[in-house]
Amino acid sequence: MPESFAVVTPQGAAIASLFWVALALSALVFALVVGVLVITLVRDRGRPGDPDPEQVHGNRTLEITWTVLPALLLMVMFGLTVRTMQTVNAEPAAPLRVQVIGHQWWWEYRYPDLGVTTASELVLPVGRPARLELTTADVIHSFWVPQIGWKKDVIPGQANSMNVQVDEAGAYDGPCTEYCGTQHAWMRIRLVAQSPDAFEAWTRAQQQPASPPSDPSVARGAQVFASSSCINCHAIAGTSAAARVGPDLSHVGSRSIIGAGVLDNSPDSLGRWIRDPQAVKPGVLMPAYPNFSDADLASLAAYLSGLK
Ligand code: CUA
Repeated sequence: MPESFAVVTPQGAAIASLFWVALALSALVFALVVGVLVITLVRDRGRPGDPDPEQVHGNRTLEITWTVLPALLLMVMFGLTVRTMQTVNAEPAAPLRVQVIGHQWWWEYRYPDLGVTTASELVLPVGRPARLELTTADVIHSFWVPQIGWKKDVIPGQANSMNVQVDEAGAYDGPCTEYCGTQHAWMRIRLVAQSPDAFEAWTRAQQQPASPPSDPSVARGAQVFASSSCINCHAIAGTSAAARVGPDLSHVGSRSIIGAGVLDNSPDSLGRWIRDPQAVKPGVLMPAYPNFSDADLASLAAYLSGLK
């Protein structure tokens, strides 16, 4: 298995072991059945001139054996499956709650106990159980980071959840795995697992409202944002922008990706995105801004990039 797909959660590890046990048992049964078949075909095949073989009807021992053995195997698999489900579904004490909300076509992450809202990047502390509460703002999506070890659908009118503990620091990328419209392919997930200290620092930074920029060009960017239709969809804590249609931009500068993974985050790509999102991600529910002057666009991108 490539290193990049190695599972980093105890829940995922339990599922992976179950898979290997099931695979080993299946391989054993397969080898046994095919082995006996091949031996019989080779050793006992009829040759010209052979008399008719002895005619046999029924064999109680064989009948019982090939009924009881598979039944036992199934019972073992059933037991192992139940045990794995108990491991995966176990409710941890005092988990970090994260509301994971699927949107066409991006992921929103709210930490209700921390007062933090972000998008595109799910940040978790290493070694602490987290409870992902999965809901959707529109259609069915599916949340899958391969290194978590399993995935879960995100369904309208239903609250699903996953208990996840990431044991290894790193950045793990995953896709939406349920077709949800034009930009289903650009509905990426980036899970960033950090040391508890780094997570603590991240949380404190995310809890801060934006401070008014002092640089005049950046302040112009803030003005452009506040006076344009940006505020119809986006929120920036500490300003009057509080809409919840699109991603919360309070700390957009701290994220490594924008547009749910379609671009790496930089002032240049932010400018490109705002100018004409349809050119970057056709179908995205954000209008273009052809009327911003180049200077205003650069100021706006600098302002957003500075929102760490
Ligand atoms: Cu969301 Cu596919």
